[in-house]
Amino acid sequence: MIRPVLWKNNAVVLIDQNALPQIERHVICTDYRQVIACIKDLTVRGAPAIGVAAALGAALGAGSLRETSAETFRMRFKKICNEIAAARPTARNLFWALERMEKCLDAALAEGRKNPAKLLIDEAKRLCAEDIEINKTMGKNGCALLADGDHVLTHCNAGALATAGFGTALGVVRAARDEGKKLHVYVDETRPVLQGARLTAWEMKKEKIPATLICDNMAGFLMQQGKINKVIVGADRIAQNGDTANKIGTYSLAVLAAAHGVPFYVAAPVSTFDFSLKSGADIPIEERSSEEVASFRGKRAAPQGMPVYNPAFDVTPATLITAIITEYGVIAKPTRKNLAGLQKEKRRR
Ligand code: MRU
Repeated sequence: MIRPVLWKNNAVVLIDQNALPQIERHVICTDYRQVIACIKDLTVRGAPAIGVAAALGAALGAGSLRETSAETFRMRFKKICNEIAAARPTARNLFWALERMEKCLDAALAEGRKNPAKLLIDEAKRLCAEDIEINKTMGKNGCALLADGDHVLTHCNAGALATAGFGTALGVVRAARDEGKKLHVYVDETRPVLQGARLTAWEMKKEKIPATLICDNMAGFLMQQGKINKVIVGADRIAQNGDTANKIGTYSLAVLAAAHGVPFYVAAPVSTFDFSLKSGADIPIEERSSEEVASFRGKRAAPQGMPVYNPAFDVTPATLITAIITEYGVIAKPTRKNLAGLQKEKRRR
């Protein structure tokens, strides 16, 4: 199984996603600051993988704290979590994972437990293992939405590389394939950073899932030709009304899908939902370096001095989403009302 982020020998081990597909190598982080740098520069990326890396990074940080009073430990750990939280703004999973780590520490200290660092390392390892199980469950839940012979378009990389393993949107594709359905995947290249062309294409080849790479601006024409009959994507943050932030270009695909009567599915774990936000308008959208747009794989394409706007995500209104697939089940026609049950269930578990 592809494991982009894991804990091994007291270090956080990451697949170097910036080197893929040409070079398959790992980055070994022994300091939480290295993990922060890897989240920032997309060595590890994809909402669930960022969350797992954040938790493991926080655990690394906890392991580096000297023996001290409970209060000082809590204060120093909180500072580490705050530093990690500042790495990227959009993926809800980053903040969710750090909140879970802080809760774990609070509970341990309240019970007067010894060696909180060890408990935090165990918690982060648990969070990592759970992510794989959640994706597999999501895969099973979404399977019925894909049929034998489907031609499915996906955007960015919502596969194993974007999680602790198995994937969200591509996890559903994997699960359907494992059920014996013959699927073909259209892979959007996903400018400016090419998560589709580099990462999804690499995963599809590794998994031997039939796939074809297209440029982002080809999707409409393929839908017009009847070549795409479903779209499935992941998510970085979902508001309480179902509005979904995902990689820039997702919204355009949703509009195209609606115009061509193509179902548009989002697959995301409940940790991606932000029930504190009323709508997608409240989701913070990351803006990244102008170089990503002005250059192509390190080579300058635009004239020097050309102004650039580079939002890394966009928001797809819930009205354009046919269904959201989660580990708790599938929510068709997501609305605030339809998603209220999910929020209750999240609180209960
Ligand atoms: O900038 P990235 O590569 O971290 O963006 C990733 C995406 O937008 C994914 O589609 C999303 O995180 C879903 S991952 C299962």
